[in-house]
Amino acid sequence: MTLITEVRLRRILDSRGNPTVEAEVRTENGGFGRGAAPSGASTGEHEAVEIPAEEAIANARELAVPRLEGQVYAGDQRGVDNTLRGADGTSDFSEIGANSAVAISMAAAKAAADVLGAPLYQHLGGAFRGREFPVPLGNVIGGGEHAADATHIQEFLAAPVGAPSVADAVFANAEVHGEVGEILSERGISAAKGDEGAWAPSIDDAEAFEIMAEAIESVADQVGFEIGFGLDVAAAELYEDGLYHYGEATKTPEEQREYVADLVGKYDLVYVEDPLDENDFEGFAALLDRVGGPDADRPLICGDDLFVTNTDRLERGIEAGAANSILIKPNQIGTLSDAFDAIELALRNGYTPVISHRSGETEDTTIAHLAVATDAPFIKTGTVGGERTAKLNELIRIEANA
Ligand code: PGA
Ligand code: ZN
Repeated sequence: MTLITEVRLRRILDSRGNPTVEAEVRTENGGFGRGAAPSGASTGEHEAVEIPAEEAIANARELAVPRLEGQVYAGDQRGVDNTLRGADGTSDFSEIGANSAVAISMAAAKAAADVLGAPLYQHLGGAFRGREFPVPLGNVIGGGEHAADATHIQEFLAAPVGAPSVADAVFANAEVHGEVGEILSERGISAAKGDEGAWAPSIDDAEAFEIMAEAIESVADQVGFEIGFGLDVAAAELYEDGLYHYGEATKTPEEQREYVADLVGKYDLVYVEDPLDENDFEGFAALLDRVGGPDADRPLICGDDLFVTNTDRLERGIEAGAANSILIKPNQIGTLSDAFDAIELALRNGYTPVISHRSGETEDTTIAHLAVATDAPFIKTGTVGGERTAKLNELIRIEANA
């Protein structure tokens, strides 16, 4: 085991052009690791707290760094992460910031892998990992909090569940993205891209469904394997004063459940994330009963803002039969150890973990390794754009070298 000798922190840019925290960890014997915090826009109200990068860095330098340097072994991930929690002293990382915490947590893991001369996924997951690869969920059309004047539903996702390899799946998602671009241009609809690189046209959700279904069918025919259709409704962002707001139109919680259940039937959806408000455990359970049940593989009803990668909230969900899938975002909870705990609790209870990027990202590739390290069946990390392809290309490399 090698001690951490130095932790450096700095501000770097994220993909939205905002400052975020980058950490570098050095160890005895020359180990080195670098990690950078992503940042959400449609954040869950129960997430660990991101604080302004400059403040997060100053507080982490004062409170956490002296407890790590010369004190903790880089390979002892729980030791690193417990030290971060102890140094912070709050339950939601509001003192040093979940952004400083997650950057240091990831950098320490990479430094430990470097000392071992092992890929990160192997250090995190053990010698027998690297045989199973996640299906990438690709955001192709999007709006919500990620683009102004676009769809109400936040993400229309391609899910190449039949792809024979990660590389085939990654290229299929990019093809669907390209095909949607062509259909939009045939229809004379101009479109910029949202924060995650998805097309953000000024169309209603009904037209987005139509275009997405057409693009998926055409690319599936071309590649010869099944590409499913998924959604991140991000419904907490639509919910206000007891109603779901789609522009001028509104839906009651019951109507929202009916609407989503109808969409599942009509488009044979394989994946629906946050179909209801982030505090509506009972509504989630009623919807899940309608469309499949807790043991069903399809559709996955996934909690993102509902669970915020938090084992207490996941336990509540398991108890209530609220979902059969959980989104895992390390920065929502603050450390890799906490993210691992959420993944393991999910797997023990038949929940499918989906490892995820944030809308604000960097070139950091930790989530690709986290997915392989845990045999997670899915990863959600966009389709195009450098900060998205960083993860996708890393998966292709891991698969090629495994
Ligand atoms: P966020 O969005 O990173 O802006 O929270 C991603 C998601 O809701 O899955
Ligand atoms: Zn989400």
